[in-house]
Amino acid sequence: MLTEILKGQSAILKGADIIKNGGVVAFPTETVYGLGANALNESCVKKIYEAKGRPSDNPLIVHVASIDDIKPLVTEINDLHRKLIEKFMPGPITLIFKKSDLVPCVVSAGLQTVGVRMPKNDIARDFIKECGVPIAAPSANASTRVSPTTAEHVYEDMNGRIPLIIDGGKSNVGIESTVLDVTGDIPIILRPGAITPKMLLEVIGEVKTFNGEILKSAPAPGMKYKHYAPIVPTVVAKNIDSLIKEYDRLVEKGINVLALVRDCDIEKLGNRNYVNLGKNDDEVCSNIYEALRDNEKVCDYMICIDLEDDGLGSSIMNRVNKASGGVKV
Ligand code: TXA
Ligand code: MG
Repeated sequence: MLTEILKGQSAILKGADIIKNGGVVAFPTETVYGLGANALNESCVKKIYEAKGRPSDNPLIVHVASIDDIKPLVTEINDLHRKLIEKFMPGPITLIFKKSDLVPCVVSAGLQTVGVRMPKNDIARDFIKECGVPIAAPSANASTRVSPTTAEHVYEDMNGRIPLIIDGGKSNVGIESTVLDVTGDIPIILRPGAITPKMLLEVIGEVKTFNGEILKSAPAPGMKYKHYAPIVPTVVAKNIDSLIKEYDRLVEKGINVLALVRDCDIEKLGNRNYVNLGKNDDEVCSNIYEALRDNEKVCDYMICIDLEDDGLGSSIMNRVNKASGGVKV
């Protein structure tokens, strides 16, 4: 199958046509690129799992173009839901609701719930609107690979597997949406993202977060898979001094090392090889997957500086820690 990369309105129209004919299309969102199909049709959704090589016990997020499109997919929208929707949608958040019968089991992987997301990215919403149906979509990487934040990344993984990639440039958030389970009394963060616990607390008073321990037993089925894995070994350094120590130890062994650091770390690095992830957490978030993907081809080993804090930095580190398998130096 020939995989085209197209931009603009003609890409949206062509993409919608493919969806209407039962096919799979990759499209940009503000978080990462998605691999979409008609969410209401079981055989269309199955094609996503095939293209991705993803186990079908991991549920897919359903993407909508407007708030009115949420209602038919869920059993209930209560006051808490309304508050969250008004404040954060469109945006980088997925809300897990009890699903209606309209949502096929193949989308929810047999669960009685459904994840719903309304992207902020205009191209994404125009595309979904043009399709005329909700779009089920996981991130557009091959299973276990780093999520794509450019059309070129999608092409690397999906060339020959899908007919079209809609090119919307680089995803500006850069990591996947915050996944928030709102089926119970107190919302639970199943996956941290750019909508942080602090931002949620400003709207809803109470939210359950969890540390690494609880994360493992969380009912987000995707959590059990090793995601976001670069091909070369990747570790996290507690601070710039431990990064430099580990860097020098590895270089002495003849290993080609690359440091992933912030703007403020660079001065200390001297002539060591580095990638500048950016000046603040927003920039680092937008650049992190690109850095993990593009640089695995040019080095043998990556060391990433720790950004630990309780906001966006901690969401970013959630992803980097998965890439590193939790190894810290
Ligand atoms: O930003 C994003 O969310 C991107 C873009 C394309 O929208 N999508 C994305 O999809 O990251 P995916 O499939 O790669 O990750 C979805 C995560 C998985 O960990 C999955 O287990 C969880 O959301 N999830 C989806 N539906 C769920 C449900 N009904 N209950 C619990 N977890 C769910
Ligand atoms: Mg994914």
